[in-house]
Amino acid sequence: MDDTSVKELAQFLESSPSCFHAAENMKNMLLKVHFEQLYENKKWTIRPGGRYFVTRNESALIAFTVPEHSFPGMRIMASHGDSPAFKIKENPELETDGHYIRLNVERYGGMLCAPWLDRPLSVAGRVIVRDPGSGAFVSRLVNIDRDLVLIPNLAVHMNREANNGYKYNPQKDMLPLYGDLTAKGTFMKTIADCAGVDEEAILGHDLFLYNRERASIWGASGEFISCGRLDDLQCAFASLKGFLAGKKQKYLSVHCVLDNEEVGSGTKQGAASTFLYDTLTRIHDCLGLTREDYLIHLADSLMISADNAHAVHPNHTDKADPTNRPYINGGIVIKFNANQKYCTDGVSAAMFRDICRTAGVPVQTFVNRSDMAGGSTLGNISNTQVALNTVDIGLPQLAMHSPYETAGVQDTEYLIRAAEEFFK
Ligand code: CO
Repeated sequence: MDDTSVKELAQFLESSPSCFHAAENMKNMLLKVHFEQLYENKKWTIRPGGRYFVTRNESALIAFTVPEHSFPGMRIMASHGDSPAFKIKENPELETDGHYIRLNVERYGGMLCAPWLDRPLSVAGRVIVRDPGSGAFVSRLVNIDRDLVLIPNLAVHMNREANNGYKYNPQKDMLPLYGDLTAKGTFMKTIADCAGVDEEAILGHDLFLYNRERASIWGASGEFISCGRLDDLQCAFASLKGFLAGKKQKYLSVHCVLDNEEVGSGTKQGAASTFLYDTLTRIHDCLGLTREDYLIHLADSLMISADNAHAVHPNHTDKADPTNRPYINGGIVIKFNANQKYCTDGVSAAMFRDICRTAGVPVQTFVNRSDMAGGSTLGNISNTQVALNTVDIGLPQLAMHSPYETAGVQDTEYLIRAAEEFFK
């Protein structure tokens, strides 16, 4: 089994402890192959044959290439860069019983709480400071990158019911221990040191806890990969790899990673925002095309909304639909939902199946059990801004929204190949 891509994925996951780091890493991958960075607050010059990218909030990124000649439509692959985690609140230090300093945190997204306990955690995100030269607000990435905090469980002796189901109270059970009393007043100083700024210079922050456990490729023949944030950085990574490898000659090709999917997408950098719409229409404007050209292109376009899917769980095989049963390393999962929580319909499913057939990549299907409510994703939300043929897909994984998720080595390769074919 060729595991070059999955090793690269492991590296990408480990170096992307927050959505800001994920965007930064993608940005560096694009700069390395001579993509030009555009800024929303500056004029754009776009040329046929050019390759560009733009970010919003430094957490969402859209990269695109323009064909040399006039093009019939667009090929867009969208995923998300955020993952459920605990966010550090303002005034984070909490002195407890005269002996401990804990950090005050709140939930970002819907995570599994239990696996966050009893393991080394650290802090990553960004701080905002005013640049002394220009006076502009600038953000500095922060990754403490050492075992810094931990959320200890309560001993089974003090909760004999611990193994009979437990309701976690995020304000009581999930606050991490940061230090003894000598740690008092040092947390923001630690953050400032990491950012290379004075503590007083920090005017704002977006900081999250993350799991310190490194990515692991494991199993009888190394067929599984486990790490935090596979949902949805596995898709974001495969999308970018396929986008870079694809020839991108015929269509306007777009790799798009949005933020805040885990909290409903309703932010300026989320799928419900105008980020994708603004970028696509602006490309058309800058190429001297009309609004009608944009609408004609849209009608001849396809979007892949890529967000990980649930594989059949080996210990809970009854939780999956009786006839649509995705397995790890069985191929890319096409997601269906009659109520259109997923946008896939007969047409977009056919288009995607055809791409996978040409690429020689197997596909599987996911539909919720009819007696279970499912999740949602960014495809149908994005369609309220940019409406086009869209297929919802993902890679099969276990333990979604745990800080240590599990997916397939081979599946990563499958999505890269399908994305490359999509962008051909
Ligand atoms: Co997701």
